[in-house]
Amino acid sequence: MTIEIPTTAETEKTPDALVARISEASLGMYDVMSVYVGDQLGLYRSLRDGGPATAPKLASRAGIDTRYAREWLEQQAATGFLEVDDIAAGADQRRYSLPESYVEPLLNLDSPYSIAPLARSLVACGKVIPQLMEAYRTGGGVDWSAYGPDMIEAQGDFNRPWLLNSFGSRILPAIPEVDERLAADPGARVADLACGVGWAAIAIPSAYPKVTVDGFDLDESSIELARENARQRGVSDRVTFERRDAADPSAAAQYDLAVIIEAIHDMSRPIEVLSAVRRMLRPGGVALIADEKTGDAFTAPAEELERMYYGFSMFACLPAAMTERPTVATGTVISLDNPGQQAVGSVFGSERNSAPIRGEARL
Ligand SMILES: C[S@@+](CC[C@H](N)C(=O)[O-])C[C@H]1O[C@@H](n2cnc3c(N)ncnc32)[C@H](O)[C@@H]1O
Repeated sequence: MTIEIPTTAETEKTPDALVARISEASLGMYDVMSVYVGDQLGLYRSLRDGGPATAPKLASRAGIDTRYAREWLEQQAATGFLEVDDIAAGADQRRYSLPESYVEPLLNLDSPYSIAPLARSLVACGKVIPQLMEAYRTGGGVDWSAYGPDMIEAQGDFNRPWLLNSFGSRILPAIPEVDERLAADPGARVADLACGVGWAAIAIPSAYPKVTVDGFDLDESSIELARENARQRGVSDRVTFERRDAADPSAAAQYDLAVIIEAIHDMSRPIEVLSAVRRMLRPGGVALIADEKTGDAFTAPAEELERMYYGFSMFACLPAAMTERPTVATGTVISLDNPGQQAVGSVFGSERNSAPIRGEARL
């Protein structure tokens, strides 16, 4: 399978061009961090729920300091995220509002437009910069759990819209043999490996009531959140979550479907995990492995999405995979032209798969 990816235009290699580009990226970085502030301090929520506000009013509604509220509001208006009603009014008299069309991307976690979790995950990378620098020097890793709740919850929120809105209702039904088995009696058993905070595991019994799902992840805090999410969604009678290595070979012929969502590239030993998947499936069982839709071969300059994947990889996914030895250390961009990664990359795309493990999707 060949994926055609348009490349970013080659830019002129001049000092001016580079300085302009990095300056623009720096503005973007400040925007991202300011979104984190507005999200985590409930400032966007307050503007949505309570309507337009002056700095003192927002500060009192959100329980933050007035001077900082003013700075954030001015920055948000200056960068074009918020609207200001009377620009000539005094600093504490100006009223700021959140445009209606920005409510969904900033505040609705179920929306496909949801973007605040991306800002949160980028800030989480900043929090472990000292560990990252040490890892880059020594070849060590940074454990996924070290990134803390900002990364772990943001990761869940990042995939939540498509997992809750279409995984059970559109994606699984589009694979007839999987759909039939999940709908049949006796109820199918599903394993969600590297389940994170559990949205895929929760989506399946919500769509297929007879199914039971076991979610496994190495990160204890993810497992706790997954249990809470299942409780809140009313499926905890059909979903269990347990801290367990996906490479654990002890499950044999127990599952009809095994899913690994956006995690194979985070694993130190993905080949052992794929072997464990082969063992845990019943005859005729299916493995559904979804990962970033990267190019098959290294490309430079690359398109924006590929550059984003390299960003994830440099600051979170590769360091997480480097925590164990030995490690395949695929990084987020699993490309087939790297011999060390072929065994993992070859599970994607029907043309280059071999049964019984068939890769069905890339995100
Ligand atoms: C990027 S997150 C994806 C989580 C979830 N599948 C999702 O879509 O939100 C990667 C997850 O892989 C987990 N992980 C990495 N290696 C693992 C392993 N060997 N066994 C179980 N979980 C693992 C991490 O703890 C982390 O929760």
